[in-house]
Amino acid sequence: MASAAPGDLANGRFRVTVGRVFVDWPRKIKRIPRPPDERCPHAIERLISAKEIAARIEALAGEIEAEFAGTDKLVVVGLLRGSFVFIADLVRELRLNVEVDFIETSSYGDATHSSREVRILKDLHGDIAGRDVLVVEDIVDTGHTLAHVLTLLRARKPRKLRTIALLDKPSRREAPIRADWIGFEIPDVFVVGYGIDYAQRNRNLPYIGKVRFADT
Ligand code: IMP
Ligand code: MG
Repeated sequence: MASAAPGDLANGRFRVTVGRVFVDWPRKIKRIPRPPDERCPHAIERLISAKEIAARIEALAGEIEAEFAGTDKLVVVGLLRGSFVFIADLVRELRLNVEVDFIETSSYGDATHSSREVRILKDLHGDIAGRDVLVVEDIVDTGHTLAHVLTLLRARKPRKLRTIALLDKPSRREAPIRADWIGFEIPDVFVVGYGIDYAQRNRNLPYIGKVRFADT
C-alpha cells in the first residue's frame, strides 16, 4: 500500500499551495447564491439587439466613409458619457484616418427628464478649425444638447461638420435639429444600455432596452 505523500489528507483529498495559501483539493464546492444582476436593477425590455446595432453601424460607417472620402483625418467627437460604446464600435468600422476626442455636457435635469440648459463640463482636447468633424451622440431627445454643441463647434470653423445619433426620438423634439445619420428612430420611451444610462446604471448592457417603470 502506497504511503501517503506529505500533505495528503483523508478521503483522497490533499493539500496544495497556491502562492502562499494552502488549499485543500478537491475543494468542497459550495453553491453560492447569485447576486442580483447589477446591470438590471429594474425591469428592462429588449428593444434593439446587439446584432441589430452592429449591422446598422456597419451600414452607417459605409455612408460616413463616402461622405468623408479623401479626408486626411476625421475628428470623431463623442458626447460623454452616453456615446462611449457607440463611438468605440463606430470608429472600428471606419476605414478612414480618425482622431477621437470627447466633449462632456450636462443638463440641469433629473434622471429621466432633460432640461433646456446645457453646460460644457469638458471641452475638446484638440483644435477643429479647418478639420473634418463628426459629432457622435447617443440619443437626440429634445435636441437641446446637440443644438448647443453644434453652435459651439460651428463657431470654431471646422471644414465640414456632420452629426450621427444612435437613437432619435423625433416626437420629443423641441429644438429644430436632426442628426445627419440616425441609427434607429424610437418612440417616446426611456431607454438604457449600449452606453446609455438610467441614473448611471445599465450602461454596460450590450443591447438597447426599454425601462419599465412601476407605473407603466
Ligand atoms: P436632449 O438635449 O433632450 O436631446 O437630450 C439628450 C440627452 O438626454 C441624451 O444624450 C441622453 O444623455 C439623455 N437622454 C435622452 N433620452 C434618454 C433615454 O431614453 N435614456 C437615457 N438618457 C436619455
Ligand atoms: Mg447624452
